[in-house]
Amino acid sequence: MTTAPVATAHALELEDLEVEYRVRGNWKRVLRGVSLHIAEGESYGLVGESGCGKSTAAFAALRYLPRNGRVSKGSVRVAGEDLLAMSDDDVRRLRVSRVSMVYQNPTSALNPTIRIGDQVAEVFTLQGVSDDEAADRAREMLEKVQISDPTGVMRRYPHQLSGGMNQRVVIAMALAKDPTLLILDEPTTGLDATVEAEVLDLVAALREEFGSSVLFISHNLDVILRMCDRVGVLYAGRVVEQGAAEEVFHNPRHPYTVGLIRCIPRAGARKDQGKLDTIPGFLPGLGAELPGCVYTDRCALAQDICRREEPDLFDLGGGHRSRCHFHEKAQSLPRDTAPEAVVAEHKDKGNGVPVISTRNVRKTFHQEGHDVRAVEDITFNLAPGETLGLVGESGSGKTTLARLLLGLTAPDEGSVVELEGTPVEPEIHKRDRDEVRALQIIFQNPDAALNRRFTIQRIIARALHMLVGGKREELDTRLRDLAHSVRFDTRLIRAKPSQLSGGLKQRAAIARAFAGDPKVVVCDEPTSALDVSVQAAILNLLAELQVEKDTAYLFISHDLGVVRYLSDRIAVLYLGRLMEASLHRGPAVCRAHREGQGPAPDQAERRDPQPCRSPLRLCLPHALPALHRRHLQERGARAQGGRARALLALPLLGG
Ligand SMILES: Nc1ncnc2c1ncn2[C@@H]1O[C@H](COP(=O)(O)OP(=O)(O)O)[C@@H](O)[C@H]1O
Ligand code: SF4
Ligand SMILES: [Mg+2]
Repeated sequence: MTTAPVATAHALELEDLEVEYRVRGNWKRVLRGVSLHIAEGESYGLVGESGCGKSTAAFAALRYLPRNGRVSKGSVRVAGEDLLAMSDDDVRRLRVSRVSMVYQNPTSALNPTIRIGDQVAEVFTLQGVSDDEAADRAREMLEKVQISDPTGVMRRYPHQLSGGMNQRVVIAMALAKDPTLLILDEPTTGLDATVEAEVLDLVAALREEFGSSVLFISHNLDVILRMCDRVGVLYAGRVVEQGAAEEVFHNPRHPYTVGLIRCIPRAGARKDQGKLDTIPGFLPGLGAELPGCVYTDRCALAQDICRREEPDLFDLGGGHRSRCHFHEKAQSLPRDTAPEAVVAEHKDKGNGVPVISTRNVRKTFHQEGHDVRAVEDITFNLAPGETLGLVGESGSGKTTLARLLLGLTAPDEGSVVELEGTPVEPEIHKRDRDEVRALQIIFQNPDAALNRRFTIQRIIARALHMLVGGKREELDTRLRDLAHSVRFDTRLIRAKPSQLSGGLKQRAAIARAFAGDPKVVVCDEPTSALDVSVQAAILNLLAELQVEKDTAYLFISHDLGVVRYLSDRIAVLYLGRLMEASLHRGPAVCRAHREGQGPAPDQAERRDPQPCRSPLRLCLPHALPALHRRHLQERGARAQGGRARALLALPLLGG
């Protein structure tokens, strides 16, 4: 039975919602009285660290909880209809026709044995459309999500597409219903971090076209600020702050929100100016009894009353609310990390010999009868202990360059990679052990480096054995030292990767990379899948290890704030070419503005020297926008416009 819609219906209303999971026979509370309303056409963001209950809220909103989950209190209304009172058939109908959900991992939403075209068309046939028309509309939908060659893609299976393409397909399916409510749960977290910007632009454009209401879940505050009108901050299953996104992020009134925002490397923040702030402690355990404020254990402003009394959701005006007894003092929260300079700016202490240098490194891939030049004439030096930041859009060649350096992909004839002045073999299996240990990598996804079947102890011990060798007792001591140096809790050393959080897994992957005292570590988006609080801790760790061990980093990231924090120099990779960007401190006229770099820019692009106004004091190569426009003209690709914005946009937060 379906209840009558309420006249002034919200797209979604959660009212005092409590959800529990049964764990070893006991019901444990996950959501604690969550109330939120999303108006028609509104985009609402939900943020908070992993494990705070964001996905649970999303599942409950569609009555899609795992089997051991239940709603123990409260209500859920979708477009005014009481979801908890509906029959299973009515809920199914609602999911087929009016609400859509996009999950973090696109492959879980696609059937691996059915062609893409049939899967998208099914969304229409379920709505009663004929097979032929469904196929046409599926093709149209794929065009809308900017998939090139939709007809070809329709014939393929999910495993034949990249992660970004699959996520577009899932979004196409989600929007094919013209949903009243679209729920996006970390839709870009599992993707190559630079594809993220494209997918976000796409969702924003489509939302405008379809007018859907959106519940957008992310641990990434920048993403939420960019995508959402209003935001709720969730901690331990409690909404602790709520309001207009701009207001909450620029005038936070809850210590947890203040802490989250402070973890983000701010405009101009640099490693030599001090460590990044982190949030001390951990989320309370599942179902923990929390009689007072849920944030007490991690809050530097906590008083006795906080332990005793749960604060109300104080109304601060304009829809801004904070669940803190001392909300007016929230921004005076003491810093967790003393901002003393722990990491000196890089000074070349060596004899002038770069630890790694490349000359004319090129890679051509042969695809379906065409030659694709992935990287072209890359020439750079890296000094011992130096960080070269590398930014660039998806497909610009960053990962190819990383693989070429490591010998995982062989470059074209004539390319030279030298380690401390001596050319190395292009392929890893021809390099000797010293060369292999000298050059290591940390990936975006730590699972890529950690064998699921082994304990962390075994994974690190194997790396030590292969890269260093030596007696068993020596290895044991080294293993303990290594775990200690990456602050990995040795009590967890016998755990398998699946039993650890993302941050702990990344620490283990860093330990593995540092096992053989590498001279150079390529960091390929090492923090982009992590919570901002964990990201700050990992960046601090990388900075400390660098000083301790004088390791050079090639640090790849799409996040200019992060790159700027850790890098001594920054380069942009664009269409396979490397161009150095200027990084500078004062309001001086920067080199890129003075000279223009890379291939000659259009005449119109040559501007007079002027002080750099970039809040990050990072000036992208002068030639870049012109080069990009020319590239777009050549390809006639209006659709690619989002990429330029993604690359050139500066982080919105952290002024
Ligand atoms: N099916 C489940 N059974 C038991 N506990 C779960 C289940 N799913 C999630 N949890 C736990 O519930 C809490 C909230 O998880 P989740 O909603 O996934 O958070 P988020 O999406 O914010 O990361 C976490 O402590 C998580 O470990
Ligand atoms: S109520 Fe107390 S413990 Fe909770 S956030 Fe506010 S100051 Fe901190
Ligand atoms: Mg989640």
